[in-house]
Amino acid sequence: MKQLCLRGRLYTLIDDPFLQAPSDCVFSCEDGLIITRNGVIEAVGDYASLRGRLSPEAELRHYPDALLLPGFIDAHIHYPQVEIIGSFGAQLLEWLQRYTFPAEAKFRDPAHARRIADFFVAELLRNGTTSASVFCTSAPGSVEAIFAAAQDVNMLILAGKMMMDRHAPAELLDAAQASYDESKALIKRWHGKGRCLYTVTPRFALTSSREQLALAGALLREYGDLRLQSHISENIDEMARAKELFPERANYTDIYAHYGLLDSRAIYGHGIHLSEGEWQRFHEAGAKIAHCPTSNFFIGSGLFDMARARNAARPVTVGLGTDVGGGTSFSMLKTMSAAYQMAQLRGTSLTAAQCYYLATLGSAEALGIAGEAGSLQAGCAADVIVLDPRATPLLRLRADEAGTLDELLFALLICADDRAVAATYVAGELVYARD
Ligand code: GUN
Ligand code: ZN
Repeated sequence: MKQLCLRGRLYTLIDDPFLQAPSDCVFSCEDGLIITRNGVIEAVGDYASLRGRLSPEAELRHYPDALLLPGFIDAHIHYPQVEIIGSFGAQLLEWLQRYTFPAEAKFRDPAHARRIADFFVAELLRNGTTSASVFCTSAPGSVEAIFAAAQDVNMLILAGKMMMDRHAPAELLDAAQASYDESKALIKRWHGKGRCLYTVTPRFALTSSREQLALAGALLREYGDLRLQSHISENIDEMARAKELFPERANYTDIYAHYGLLDSRAIYGHGIHLSEGEWQRFHEAGAKIAHCPTSNFFIGSGLFDMARARNAARPVTVGLGTDVGGGTSFSMLKTMSAAYQMAQLRGTSLTAAQCYYLATLGSAEALGIAGEAGSLQAGCAADVIVLDPRATPLLRLRADEAGTLDELLFALLICADDRAVAATYVAGELVYARD
């Protein structure tokens, strides 16, 4: 049995700092130790008090100048869109037509899908992201490719075939029944295989017929442990179109709720423009939101209101996503920075603990994988990253000035990027090393 142990300065969230006292939510340790066995964390604590538990054959790696954190979890990302990241000048509906749909059409070629899936997984790991909830395309081969690539490094990946049967180019459309059948075949093949979790993935209400949304709901009812991902209320024109297409429903949220797509297994990207009644409905259903600030800035969609979403009187669980290729970076550090800046524009200053919560444990809670990932705690997978707070000349200068760990972590999330990720471990294996 393999006992890998990591020694260094530890920092992890163990509870939700939006709802609990900050001191109850963070575990940190100046000289800490993570003991793992067969890819799972066995114990976390002070090096001095845990060193006695190291077995003679244990492999100890010491990172004296670094921070050890749980791997980041990207709650919303599109792997077929990596090639069109940073495409100029359009808002959501035009951006989809002009850039996204043509890029996604290329994934009918399985070789293309596998090449981009391998690139994508490597890029996640280079950025310290150890789990992600991934949108594929309507081509079943695109799902095969991402699960196969993730399985090669034993990553916990959630992914699913995009269901879309109207209002997109013909080469991307499926039919309602075919999307159900193809999703079901993929569920049987991949769900629960290694760390792969199949996720029912209707793109959004605009590209699905009533019949297709009903069949997505049927899949959720048939398989109690599947998650669902989609998009909601990202853009004003999108919302107007949803209203046109579903005039019989009270609002955008009601469309999904009507088809059985609003429960505690559902996570929706964006939710920028939800009404108070819709927030209440999300809360009652236990449905989650993936906040994607670099995308919201880049596509010009609007300013998400974090304080409103996390309102303690009716909290909705929120995870953090890059939404690449609408989002502009794979880096969850840069995504935390954008979340902080967007909240500032809404009059709220997110604390360092709140930002790291969103990028780790919060995303894990939003995706229903807490207990397995997102925190440095016994029983979680040993998905651990090594952050170098002195990765660049500017970071070195800033780190020397930081008085407390909290201050250092905040400066890092604002100023750092992939260069600060020195190493990434997935299930106790080193899968990326910068140097
Ligand atoms: N809404 C529906 N599809 C998409 C997509 O691919 N990206 C974003 N940002 N929003 C969407
Ligand atoms: Zn998206």
